[in-house]
Amino acid sequence: MFLCFRKKAYLCSIETPYNNYNMANKIVLTGGCGFIGSHTCVELQNAGYDVVIFDNLSNSEASVVDGIERITGKRPAFYQIDCTNKGDVYQAFQKEGPIAGVIHFAASKAVGESVQKPLLYYRNNLSSLMNMMEAAEDFHLKGFVFSSSCTVYGEPDQSPVDENAPIKPATSPYGNTKQIAEEIIKDYLHTGVGFNAIILRYFNPIGAHPTAEIGELPRGVPQNLLPYVCQTAMGIRKELNVFGNDYNTPDGSCIRDYIDVTDLAKAHVCALDRMVQGKSEEKIEYYNLGTGNGVSVLELVNTFMEATGVNVPYVIKGRREGDIEKIWGNPGRANTVLGWKAQVPLKETLANAWRWQTRLREKGVM
Ligand code: UD1
Repeated sequence: MFLCFRKKAYLCSIETPYNNYNMANKIVLTGGCGFIGSHTCVELQNAGYDVVIFDNLSNSEASVVDGIERITGKRPAFYQIDCTNKGDVYQAFQKEGPIAGVIHFAASKAVGESVQKPLLYYRNNLSSLMNMMEAAEDFHLKGFVFSSSCTVYGEPDQSPVDENAPIKPATSPYGNTKQIAEEIIKDYLHTGVGFNAIILRYFNPIGAHPTAEIGELPRGVPQNLLPYVCQTAMGIRKELNVFGNDYNTPDGSCIRDYIDVTDLAKAHVCALDRMVQGKSEEKIEYYNLGTGNGVSVLELVNTFMEATGVNVPYVIKGRREGDIEKIWGNPGRANTVLGWKAQVPLKETLANAWRWQTRLREKGVM
């Protein structure tokens, strides 16, 4: 199996056939039925990896596996297990045989809920991480990819932020779990374990697969911007609340770096390739995954309307507690070292999200 065809698609600098490494090409994806996990599963399978999904389906559906199969023609192995249960994790590893790496997505991720239920967040997000790292060591894996977030930078002193920007105090238990998780990984790798780690700090992932077979499945009222925009465009919500137009930004609304979910997924393939092929230069490496462009809330809403031709009624509301005024990333390190670059234009990302929303309506999901 050759992986070098990826070079053309998104610049991964792979020149050697996988089999030269004479090792497993099986990857465990925890949270593989979730939004980013499912898109990453597609890209890994497209790149020739075998994928094993661990997911407790607490915030996803088993039918996502069908969508992945429809896109790739290949069904990933699926275990409905909770990664906080070490016994279940180890049993699945034993059953699957040699595994090359783990991408650990599984985590609770609602900022507001984390304030209400901090222990749930600390228990869930941190004990699953520790179990997966112990498994990575005990089963002799090569690489461990962790889903972190730009939330670790807090309100940055300047944007774009690079990986050396200071880590600021977390504004929510959710954000704190990401910071603590990064520390736990650092401390554990310091003990001289056999695997390397790559920590990926995502900016704001949005969109859906262009086939509309998989996408984001928010439960209840969406908390994140684009799912709310899509549901408003669909008439499920009366109007979008724009949280604040008095920030120190050109149009007064907050600025973020919105990254297409397929672009983001491809970065995981580059990260894994690097570790599995023994190219990591450090025991732990950190990469920002963003576009490098800041986009305001109002710009995003207007671009959505342009991309889809659908109106999104909105009202300006007060600021949302805990919101950061502006942040966008410097993805230079991922560009040069991983050979990865965000490529999907924002309009296309927004059109994909709308196509997915339309598909959900056709299926009667929402
Ligand atoms: C938050 C988290 C981030 C996490 C992401 C996805 C923090 C500081 N940020 O990002 O770590 O990865 O969620 O789970 O913890 N907005 C509206 N109206 C809405 C919804 C949002 O105006 O109905 C605005 C927000 O005020 C914000 C922007 O849209 O300015 C983006 O919000 P959101 O999609 O929730 O993501 P973040 O808060 O940036």
